[in-house]
Amino acid sequence: MCGIIGCVGRPDETLGVLIHGLSKLEYRGYDSAGVALAGTEGTVGIESTVDIEKRAGKLENLRGALDGVSMPGSVGIGHTRWSTHGPPTDRNAHPHPDCEGNVAVLHNGIIENFQEIRDELVADGHDFRSDTDTEVVPHLIEEALQDGANPEEAFREAVSRIEGSYAIAAVFADTEAVFCARQDSPLVLGLDADAYYLASDVPAFRDYTDRVVYMDDGEFARLDPEGWAVTDASGEPVEKEPHVVEWDAEETGKSGYDHYMMKEIHEQPRTLRECLRGRVDELGDQVQLEEFAGLAPPSSVQFVACGTSYHAALYGAQLFREAGVPAQAFLASEYRTSPPPIGNNLVIGVTQSGETADTLSALREASRRGASTLAVTNVIGSSAARECDHALYIRAGPEIGVAASKTFASQLAALNVLALATTRSADSRAAIGALRDLPSDVQAVLDESASESVAREYIDADAYFFIGRGYQYPVALEGALKMKEITYKHAEGFAAGELKHGPLALVTERTPVIAIAVGDGDAAGKTVGNIKEVEARNAPVIAVTDGRSGVERYADHVLPVPESHPRTAAVTASVQLQLLAYHSAAQLDRSIDKPRNLAKSVTVE
Ligand code: G6P
Repeated sequence: MCGIIGCVGRPDETLGVLIHGLSKLEYRGYDSAGVALAGTEGTVGIESTVDIEKRAGKLENLRGALDGVSMPGSVGIGHTRWSTHGPPTDRNAHPHPDCEGNVAVLHNGIIENFQEIRDELVADGHDFRSDTDTEVVPHLIEEALQDGANPEEAFREAVSRIEGSYAIAAVFADTEAVFCARQDSPLVLGLDADAYYLASDVPAFRDYTDRVVYMDDGEFARLDPEGWAVTDASGEPVEKEPHVVEWDAEETGKSGYDHYMMKEIHEQPRTLRECLRGRVDELGDQVQLEEFAGLAPPSSVQFVACGTSYHAALYGAQLFREAGVPAQAFLASEYRTSPPPIGNNLVIGVTQSGETADTLSALREASRRGASTLAVTNVIGSSAARECDHALYIRAGPEIGVAASKTFASQLAALNVLALATTRSADSRAAIGALRDLPSDVQAVLDESASESVAREYIDADAYFFIGRGYQYPVALEGALKMKEITYKHAEGFAAGELKHGPLALVTERTPVIAIAVGDGDAAGKTVGNIKEVEARNAPVIAVTDGRSGVERYADHVLPVPESHPRTAAVTASVQLQLLAYHSAAQLDRSIDKPRNLAKSVTVE
């Protein structure tokens, strides 16, 4: 899952626009980066009539290599990589040229039949310089050019040979145009008065324009100084409707915070308000989802999701079960391997990006088997939103930090509204009122959290264990995921009742146990019992609590949350855990926004 940017129509600034775009896309992968400029004669880089410069490592390395270098091309493409084929080296960084250096190609996705094409091209005398699957494409283009095709025809012909997933783009020497195509990987065009862009995601060009066109699978586009055109696989023009994105460029800046993640954690009161706007009324006694007014109540629900979104899915399944609707959450990557009976299930894909390959493939499988599908996503126009029968937007705005924070909170809030609006839940009044109060409850946590000093106290811990029951179980899993993602320390989440069935063997005075116990119900009471087991083994206990269960008596530290419904307390508790992970990572001086080996949007299975 890489980041792609392309630009046409900014002749004196192409390189700057590409680098700026890549800086906005680094969250998609950051183990190497590169650019290719064309439309004028080549001046630097490898022997090439298209200028290419590329470097292993973060974008900073590429910036360093470009320092003082002039790349005057009038059109260009750029790439930030998360490697799938071949290690992250200069050689394997994109873009890739053909033998003569007349073409440069970059790609996000996987070319499944690359080996057979490569063998064929090598037999024909082509000189390969990387280990990537992508490199077959510039050589296929080269063949087509030699056979007399023009650049657009050659690009189309090469793309028609490859199987798999791709957002792919190419530039040609002496051609003032960028060509691109999409299949199962995101690609969006940006339209300005006299400049055109292409990218994996809107933030890459949002500083220049808010008019976008989302490309669909099987489509090709040509951008040149005269305009843009989208065609289908057979070359027929496709009418595309431009959309206007609603968030502004400032939303993708850090606004004075040291890291995007901290900014995004602090945005939660606002983004939750946005998520609930028009869906929960002011009095807190009604929910409505206009977009689903005609949707029959589901008789049963299956959730599919990955990572943080899977934790939201576990929570969502519980909401539906509590309303009397059978519901189960599945890891999307397992769903296709061992498909459950589909019955009359509504299949809900929870996916922030709307582009996660595992989730899309599970949703496609469900759809193929006749299920009705619904995407709970943050990204308008994403593949999940477009492919599912229904879409519910969580309205969290762009999230740049690789570790999800505000989008998790908005997923939980949106799932509450969805479950309440589509089922007849007995306890709805209290739950709706709690939802209305949720943004201010989260603000209270942000204003008063002691997480920084707690993080400091346990910075040398061997491991962190997180426990919770009921709605707090997915929160425990998510707290542990946040901790491991950004601190690189060992962290695990458990259902509180499971601790004694094995993990307790790992508990020592060097393994803080973070226990979430909210309310005074059975779940909190039993969690207190589990904490006593921990305390007896001398492990430090950090309680995330509203103080109603009496857990503080057994805790070394308390991270308080306001009294509310257990469903919404799950959100405030997760904010405390986000802060705990953030402050721990900051004290360890980790790369918080771009943790090693991870990427925000994983578009390979
Ligand atoms: C990646 C990210 C996770 C994210 C998961 C699912 O693994 O690193 O933070 O939770 O993908 O992403 P999605 O966009 O489908 O929610």
